[in-house]
Amino acid sequence: MKKSYIAVFDSGVGGLNILESLIKDFPSENFIYLADEEFFPYGVKTKEELENRITKIAIKLASMNVKAIIIACNTASANSHHLFNIIDTKVIEIITATAKYAEKNSINKKIGVWATNATINSKKYQEALSNVLACYPVKASDLVELIENNKLEETIPFVLKHLDEIKDADSLILGCTHFPLLKDIIRNINPKLNLISSNIPVSIALKEF
Ligand code: DGL
Repeated sequence: MKKSYIAVFDSGVGGLNILESLIKDFPSENFIYLADEEFFPYGVKTKEELENRITKIAIKLASMNVKAIIIACNTASANSHHLFNIIDTKVIEIITATAKYAEKNSINKKIGVWATNATINSKKYQEALSNVLACYPVKASDLVELIENNKLEETIPFVLKHLDEIKDADSLILGCTHFPLLKDIIRNINPKLNLISSNIPVSIALKEF
């Protein structure tokens, strides 16, 4: 059977902005999008819960005979290393590509990372950024549900607190796919910060594949 789709998945709406740029960058490809809203939010779940859930989803998507599975979710990416043992389908996780891109685009090599508690606990970003001068990991699951429910104004006190936690950084990795929806709010407070989201790195990784 001909493989005709590329699968993209996230716990909710966050990965939709990655999907949007993939559609622009790969106009001749067909995509399917899975938002795992039943299990949302991922960022406060345990490693074991996440691994089990992600295994189920990957097996399901692989059974649909897709060309590749893009894990457009940092928390799922941080808990996806076991998948290559389980399915034959190509899996593209977003942390490695995003960290590499951030390192290249940071001027002072001091990089903040806002991500869910589970992503920060996994230390995947900290490991991927081990060559930079400083990495400031920030547990920011407090932002996720407000964004998912489109209560962006209510994120402002948390945004201020988390900006304070990375004040020496020139770049900030939006290490949760929900966070690019805060770009305008962050830019209003700190226009100089170089905001890095996963869209371009994911397209680069897919092109390489
Ligand atoms: N959007 C997901 C990520 O990139 C996580 C949001 C959640 O907690 O479900 O990590």
